[in-house]
Amino acid sequence: MKHKADVTASIETQPCLLNETVPLPAAVIKASALANNIGWMQAFANTAGVALAPHGKTSMTPAIFRRQLAAGAWGLTVATPYQALIAAQAGAKRIILANQLVGKANMAVVAQLLQQGIQLYACVDDSHNAKQLSAYFDKLKLQLPCLVELGTAAGRCGLRDLDSSLRLADVISQLNGLTLAGVEFYEGIAKDEQSVRHWIQQAARLCQQLQQRYLTGQSAILSGAGSVWYDVVAEELRAFSADNPIEVVLRPGCYITHDHQLYACAQQHIQQRSQLAQQVQGDLQPALEVAAYVQSLPEPGLAVLGLGKRDIAFDAGMPKVLKLYRAGKALPLDFTGCESRKIMDQHTFWHYPPQLELQIGDIAILGSSHPCLTFDKWRSIWLVDDDYQLLEAMETCF
Ligand SMILES: Cc1ncc(COP(=O)(O)O)c(C=O)c1O
Repeated sequence: MKHKADVTASIETQPCLLNETVPLPAAVIKASALANNIGWMQAFANTAGVALAPHGKTSMTPAIFRRQLAAGAWGLTVATPYQALIAAQAGAKRIILANQLVGKANMAVVAQLLQQGIQLYACVDDSHNAKQLSAYFDKLKLQLPCLVELGTAAGRCGLRDLDSSLRLADVISQLNGLTLAGVEFYEGIAKDEQSVRHWIQQAARLCQQLQQRYLTGQSAILSGAGSVWYDVVAEELRAFSADNPIEVVLRPGCYITHDHQLYACAQQHIQQRSQLAQQVQGDLQPALEVAAYVQSLPEPGLAVLGLGKRDIAFDAGMPKVLKLYRAGKALPLDFTGCESRKIMDQHTFWHYPPQLELQIGDIAILGSSHPCLTFDKWRSIWLVDDDYQLLEAMETCF
């Protein structure tokens, strides 16, 4: 037994989270919401006429990757070569490494995948890196498909303007072992819609020029989009891809379980502004929760819950108590005025109006903001039905 989640994975009695047969804390995913989200985002991409390569770094859960691919995803996106290995093992035939590929050990992992016939695209934003890649892949008689990354001033990776991007494309096109394949950008770090639209338009212009100059007769890849601006990316690029031999690939990751704060708020904006999103039936639903006991009631109005930074995301907002259960039944409580104010490694300080009458052993179900950093705290996550009956232990691979 190597992880806290392994204790729960060996439980064979009454398979329900609410009847005290599962040691807590435990992370769960609602099966109905997971299936809904996979279907909803695929339907959005289909409606927009673009391809979907969900970012796998969010869940790193092969059982989820398989479901995304089975629902029609074009491929998967990853952030590291290790993640690419896991994506390939789960069945992805096309993988976007939405990052620069640096260092020989990382290149060796990618080479192994190319040799297996995986179509893997890596991002490049520097001619020195392009030459390193060329030396490595040419020696192995492999061709690495490369996407030029277009960034933005004060952003993260990526070239800052079209001229330098075109110069890099020119370098890549002349190097052995590399195949110029298209353009990548990540607008998720932008703050406002206007700068997102400008960035997308620049990327489209770059991709068009690159396609015309270097890829005559072949289609280019143009890939962007996290879970905050995917509607704007799709809206800007769908017409463009209809008129040009360009395959648009969206890469949202956090949509998979959605959340109770950051992405819930982003999706509300999307539903308000996007006709494309409004055409898709239903909406994303929060799917990921962590269950924990009320562990101590040391002062009136303060409950110390048995979960902490080791168990749930706290980087983008404090976890929220969604429901409380006693003896398997939901307590009919109004949570107005309740909040988690402090989180430590293994404890969360939850403040509530004392008239709520909590008891030690009540089970709190919490939702978080930003799913990525809850997923990575668990080696195994329970798939549950709407009544918290355990359906499947899903292994994560971080
Ligand atoms: C390059 C890249 N693409 C796509 C995504 C997915 O965005 P989100 O986490 O909002 O779903 C990320 C997330 O960090 C990213 O870094």
